[in-house]
Amino acid sequence: MLEIIFTNERISSKTTKIFAVSENSRLTFEALSKDEINLLKKAAQQYEFTGKKDTFLEVFGSGGKIIIAGMGEKPEALDLQNLGGRLAKKLFKDTSACFYVEEIKGCRLSLEEIAHNVAFGMMLGSYRFDKYFTKKKQNEYPALEQIIFKVKNSADVNENFKDFAALGNAVRYGRDLCNEPANTLTPDVFAADIKRLEYLGLEVEVLDKESLKEKEFNLLLSVAQGSIKEPKAVIIKWKGNPDNKEYDLALVGKGVTFDAGGISIKPAGGMEDMKQDMTGAAVVVASMKALALQCASVNVVGIVGLVENMPSGSATHPGDVVTSMSGQTVEIINTDAEGRLVLGDCLWYVQDKYGVKEVIDIATLTGATMRALGSEYAGLFANDDKLAQKLIAAGEESGERLWRLPIGEGYNKMINSDIADMKNIGGANAGGSTAACFLQRFIKDGVSWAHLDIAGVDKETKGNALNSKGATAFGIRLLNKFMQNK
Ligand code: BES
Ligand code: MN
Ligand code: ZN
Repeated sequence: MLEIIFTNERISSKTTKIFAVSENSRLTFEALSKDEINLLKKAAQQYEFTGKKDTFLEVFGSGGKIIIAGMGEKPEALDLQNLGGRLAKKLFKDTSACFYVEEIKGCRLSLEEIAHNVAFGMMLGSYRFDKYFTKKKQNEYPALEQIIFKVKNSADVNENFKDFAALGNAVRYGRDLCNEPANTLTPDVFAADIKRLEYLGLEVEVLDKESLKEKEFNLLLSVAQGSIKEPKAVIIKWKGNPDNKEYDLALVGKGVTFDAGGISIKPAGGMEDMKQDMTGAAVVVASMKALALQCASVNVVGIVGLVENMPSGSATHPGDVVTSMSGQTVEIINTDAEGRLVLGDCLWYVQDKYGVKEVIDIATLTGATMRALGSEYAGLFANDDKLAQKLIAAGEESGERLWRLPIGEGYNKMINSDIADMKNIGGANAGGSTAACFLQRFIKDGVSWAHLDIAGVDKETKGNALNSKGATAFGIRLLNKFMQNK
């Protein structure tokens, strides 16, 4: 993994040097010689480099390569993160590089914040999932092993990077979980990996099939029964505020380690993507890991339902009726609408057992939300405007943006069943909203609840500098920001 160093010591002269400038600012840098600056000015003229956002100027001086990154007029934190991501990809052949942290005209961030955001972007942009390549092709591998940030007071900058480093680590961990194929990341392997996180001071309880039966996670069990893989539910607790006996928040994640659709089987094309149908669970687990690494002063309880949705002789039939933990009955019309079943019991359990008054669930839940929003926004559904506003704000700040979609009685009626309390699909339309209404039936009175549908944003699609091929683990940065703002 890329090593990040903040230092105020001298840097070896052969190191690639990087500077960031805003649009139309002068090319003068404390760390460069007159000759180097002249070289830059000539090159800028020739290539008409003005510092526009997302442009680079590169020259080779006597002391090695110099890169000037254009940042546009008023660069913000996310622009700097983005630069970090782009640099991580760009510095492919440079074995060592140094980012000179100097003032950027028009940027309201401190020098420390500039360094931190670029470094964080590099942590994300340099992520790769390459454990299954048996032959390393030299030219396909980044050479960059170390990035140095030349800063004025390195001790403070280092110390204060802790929260960003924790979050970067958590996002990389979340992506590893999501990219892992379903033959290796089974519910029991996933659960064992979460249990391992106890070394960080998290409390982890794994419910096996026997205890799931005893506690009546019947909807979750009905999804799992077609698979030979044993289901698990895992409860993860972080008590960062001992003065408070209660939990401030519950996080609930959909952890379908593979979604074949069950008897309502999915078409073959693209089915391989359904190894990522556990992204919600990965996001919850990684978010808990981030809290522990950050020693955050909040109390949060997380729960993830880990199952595989497969067709077989023991699978749930379309038309089966199952009594949920809440006591409400569900007619399962389509076994491919399984995420809401897993979540229904998990939502109920976490409210019933821990009395939490604020609950956020996160799930790759519906193709309908993906169709509506593409990969620009995740869908947000909520029964509380204040909570929705806070989540939208955290989304804008973190770059993981949310768009609120409606719930309400009209949609809720669409999941009434002729023979049971509800059915697990609505009509052909408004699939994201009817799914959310299904979940809302498992929310107790007086509980603030939000549901994040991340079906359209869990996979990299368009060359975002902070992602790499495969999983984005969307939601970890957003939830971390939300909890920090609390
Ligand atoms: N895991 C899928 C949703 C999904 C689709 C996630 C595409 C990521 C990309 C979910 O379990 C599902 O199958 N939903 C169905 C529900 C339908 C049967 C009512 C859907 O959206 O098609
Ligand atoms: Mn499904
Ligand atoms: Zn699914």
